[in-house]
Amino acid sequence: MGLISLNLAKAQGFVPEGMPEKMKEKGKAAQEELLSRGGRGNEFTGWIDLPEAYDRQEFERIQKAVGKIRSDSDVLLVIGIGGSYLGARAAIEFLGHSFYNELPKEKRGGPEIYFLGNQMSGTYAKEIMDVIDGKDFSINIISKSGTTTEPAIAFRIFKEIMENRYGKTESAKRIYATTDKSKGALKTLADAEGYETFVVPDDIGGRFSVLTAVGLLPIAVSGADIEKLMQGALDQRNELLSNKESNAALDYAVYRNIFREDGKEVEILANYEPGFHFVAEWWKQLYGESEGKEHKGLFPAAVDLTTDLHSMGQYIQDGNRILMETVLDLNEQRAHMDIKAQEDDLDGLNYLAGKSMDFVNKNAMNGTILAHNDGGVPVLVVNVPSQDEHSLGALFYFFEYACGISGYILGVNPFDQPGVESYKKNMFALLGKPGYEQLRDDLTKRL
Ligand code: PA5
Repeated sequence: MGLISLNLAKAQGFVPEGMPEKMKEKGKAAQEELLSRGGRGNEFTGWIDLPEAYDRQEFERIQKAVGKIRSDSDVLLVIGIGGSYLGARAAIEFLGHSFYNELPKEKRGGPEIYFLGNQMSGTYAKEIMDVIDGKDFSINIISKSGTTTEPAIAFRIFKEIMENRYGKTESAKRIYATTDKSKGALKTLADAEGYETFVVPDDIGGRFSVLTAVGLLPIAVSGADIEKLMQGALDQRNELLSNKESNAALDYAVYRNIFREDGKEVEILANYEPGFHFVAEWWKQLYGESEGKEHKGLFPAAVDLTTDLHSMGQYIQDGNRILMETVLDLNEQRAHMDIKAQEDDLDGLNYLAGKSMDFVNKNAMNGTILAHNDGGVPVLVVNVPSQDEHSLGALFYFFEYACGISGYILGVNPFDQPGVESYKKNMFALLGKPGYEQLRDDLTKRL
């Protein structure tokens, strides 16, 4: 099975002399800091050993719960936000059929899956109600704290709907809570009501939690093989840890920091396969929340190509030269589609007759990388072997490991997120939450 590799060829021409050697030394020191658990935030590095040290008993419980949900539910509602949302969505959208929810149930094999509690739209919540009307459903509420506003509101609404539909006893068998192992509002409620619970480990922060129950339960409900996902992560981990002198994740961390120090401010993660869209959303949280602090860090952005070449392409090619780009290159497509000749050839495409769409897509990618190079954008290429569980597990681990190294090179604590609290305080004050009266007065004057 292939693992993740990195191609630096289209970045080398942009590297200032002497920089790689210097940055590589910093990178190796950062890697050592990470692996020795000696750096800032080291109490949140449980994800490093997770692929080999995960709780096998809980894993079996997850599989059992998945079997029940797949047999007794037409719909699974997955309620969570941030690290308690993005990993599962990334995996389900990458691994599953592009039109998973629209397929007939026999073809899908499992329930439709909808995500909520990741924003505060009443319209969205109301329209999910239309979706579950007349359908049997289960809920996976995912929240370490149990008090995060967005999922807490969604859970309050859909728990009530469920209890009105099934009664309290049957509802308790349809609600699965992924939360802290011993404390917090959700754990307390789950114990009181008798929900089956799964654990968000104390030593793994939200954005590093996709390979815990946080991601694994919903991912497995979609029919994906979570053993293969864990195996991919384990194989990638073993590869990285047995090549500490030089490995792809270290190089990725090193090169993005070379370009940052050389004045780049934005890293664009580009993909040429729609299934990567939410992997990029997951990656944005991973790097944005890990590195964006103390007024430092590359701003992580993402584009879906070739789609966005017709919208953002102009800026990437020719706008403010603050960009570096990382391309996710899927080496083996899941399905192939050929282009046929047409007699009239009005669209002039007969020169592609007999070629596959992948062939066209690859050439678009290669041409775009060279064009972006010509426009002054260094491009790193991350090779992803295939659109399957093993590759995705490897990719998750690759980016997490590189993120730990990169954050330490940058000199920040990659495992905290103090800035996330500011909006919450203001929101609570403006909503009139008790205890925030003074702040409310101050903010009201400024509105
Ligand atoms: O990465 C993080 O820590 C955040 O994105 C959290 O995961 C997110 O805020 C959800 O928190 P909780 O799981 O406590 O509801």
